[in-house]
Amino acid sequence: MSDKEFQTNTSEWFYPPEHIVQNANVPDYETVYQKAVEDPISFWAERAETLEWYQKWDKVLDDSNAPFYKWFTGGKTNIVLNALDRHQKTWRRNKLAIIWEGEDGEKRSFSYWRLNQEVCKFANVLRSMGVRKGDTVTIYMGRTPEIVIAMLACAKVGAIHSVIYGGFSEQAIADRIEDAKSRVMITSDGAWLRGQIVPLKDNVDKAIDRSPIVEHVIVVKRTGQDVPMVQGRDYWYHDLMALPIASTRSETEVMDAEDPLFILYTSGTTGKPKGILHTHGGYQVYTSTTLSWVFDIKDDDRWWCAADPGWITGHSYIVYAPLILGATSIIYEGAPTYPYPDRWWRIVEDYGVTILYTAPTAIRGLMRFGDAWPNRRDLSSLRLLGSVGEPINPEAWKWFYNVIGKGKCPIMDAWWQTETGGFMITPLPSVPLKPGSATRPFPGIVVDVVDEDGNSCPPNEDGKLVIKTPWPSMLRTIWGDDQRYINQYWSAYQEQGWYLAGDSARKDEDGYIWVIGRIDDVIKVSGYRLGTAEIESGLVSHPAVAEAAVIGVPDEVKGNVIYAYCILVAGETGSDELAKELREHVRHEVGPIAMPTKIEFVDKLPKTRSGKIMRRVLKARAMGLPEGDLSTLED
Ligand code: WTA
Repeated sequence: MSDKEFQTNTSEWFYPPEHIVQNANVPDYETVYQKAVEDPISFWAERAETLEWYQKWDKVLDDSNAPFYKWFTGGKTNIVLNALDRHQKTWRRNKLAIIWEGEDGEKRSFSYWRLNQEVCKFANVLRSMGVRKGDTVTIYMGRTPEIVIAMLACAKVGAIHSVIYGGFSEQAIADRIEDAKSRVMITSDGAWLRGQIVPLKDNVDKAIDRSPIVEHVIVVKRTGQDVPMVQGRDYWYHDLMALPIASTRSETEVMDAEDPLFILYTSGTTGKPKGILHTHGGYQVYTSTTLSWVFDIKDDDRWWCAADPGWITGHSYIVYAPLILGATSIIYEGAPTYPYPDRWWRIVEDYGVTILYTAPTAIRGLMRFGDAWPNRRDLSSLRLLGSVGEPINPEAWKWFYNVIGKGKCPIMDAWWQTETGGFMITPLPSVPLKPGSATRPFPGIVVDVVDEDGNSCPPNEDGKLVIKTPWPSMLRTIWGDDQRYINQYWSAYQEQGWYLAGDSARKDEDGYIWVIGRIDDVIKVSGYRLGTAEIESGLVSHPAVAEAAVIGVPDEVKGNVIYAYCILVAGETGSDELAKELREHVRHEVGPIAMPTKIEFVDKLPKTRSGKIMRRVLKARAMGLPEGDLSTLED
């Protein structure tokens, strides 16, 4: 939402039902928060004790080389030890880990026992292909159980997975392969979306043409259409899993707590996407603690995080944290509205979902279809709801609360980022809510809203959101670029040693945080984080375009849509056909999610004297707002 639309009502309270507070894993936020702030080291040590380690850590936090913080140093572990191995020794091995439903109606489920077997088999396959500790493996798949198996198998053998969201295409994939230097890739022939096939393998082939460092491609058969297989490079997953080498026994690699677990690319202010690096030790402690306390996971819950595994939300809260907690998760393939707009409500009814975690864009999208669709379904199993990805407007909040939660399910609006690994500002079930506010920091997290000089802003005044102390699942660096890590996150408040989140926010008189939106050139489209730079290079790679600028313009359902302004090369003239061609070009280069809604051909772009495009001016023009201070404009 833009500043213009951002409205807050800082005095509207919603109180959680008494039975939810009393039975919550953490019934009293204040006490726990205080305890954690006073002694964060003992607090995190205690949390880490709830997990298994091959060898206990020597030091909880090593801050000797800040901002390159290290957690649980000397500790030996593997996130798979906690996500799978330890459950095999208890009754949980027979509990359902994953219930999966394809868009075409296919259903599969995996107990912890069976999931572990599949992961062991695939880990052996990966090893037989020469994948070793520290190697990177790129995964580009739809939402099927195999993406979970692939991620876990990588972690098990000590390889670093880099999952690329299925909404990206050729150039975006090629850039990410290149940056991660992956020799092995895992994909599928296609994925179902709204009854259509997303041609994943096809995109991979074209990306590898551009980044030929990939030696092996493992292909899961999902949609079944003919796909060309390159001899000696491409292998069917099911063929490999049928080989004797794919036995159900496989050692879990012993990792240092600080060994890399995954890279996840996300968009930043400039240039190429950033590979955010997370590690085994701190990440497992933080994600499992936050999921247990915020979403109050109990053994009989049916947890549904309706995100994509290719997003940080999926990494942390579809794959790792729920498995560490031994929870039962729902995973679905396809679109929320296909074949009918009640798909989600039918899933809640069919599986008795107790906790549903989704994004404002999905809520707004489903809201459009009216109350009759959810009202025809039995949603009485729901206990808690959640929202993530962008600020939720109070209207959508109330619809979710009243129509879906029937006024009895508190909404956990969790603010966090790819970089933070887990929820940072979020209610716990016992915390009173204000629609549109992510409420208070999680225990152990110290946040503030500050001005340029680092002074705390007075209540209800806009400022920059900072995180003042380190936390276990913080990113460790940007893959291959330590300097960029420092510049991006730690240089704005270098003296104070604070992490700059890149969001603007307000804190109200009750200490509740209201996140407003990004302060950099990142656009949130349907909750997905896109960099203007990547879309602009996509446009400029078309021969007709000399220069391009893109901006995000507020949209009722998607949060933002993309407007693009293009200067054409001499001799080209703008037309509707060219605009259409450029949109298609962006779809191929970057991905369907990056397609501009509107393309305008211009002679000039507003720039500063130093040549930086003033997107703020373009945005004001697009929205019919005052253009503000133009003193730095070039002419
Ligand atoms: C935004 C997604 C308001 C924010 C987990 C942040 C939110 C960016 C919320 C990170 C929320 C995420 N309320 N804004 N509850 N959650 N954001 O890396 O701008 O895809 O900086 O991680 O999403 O996006 P990312």
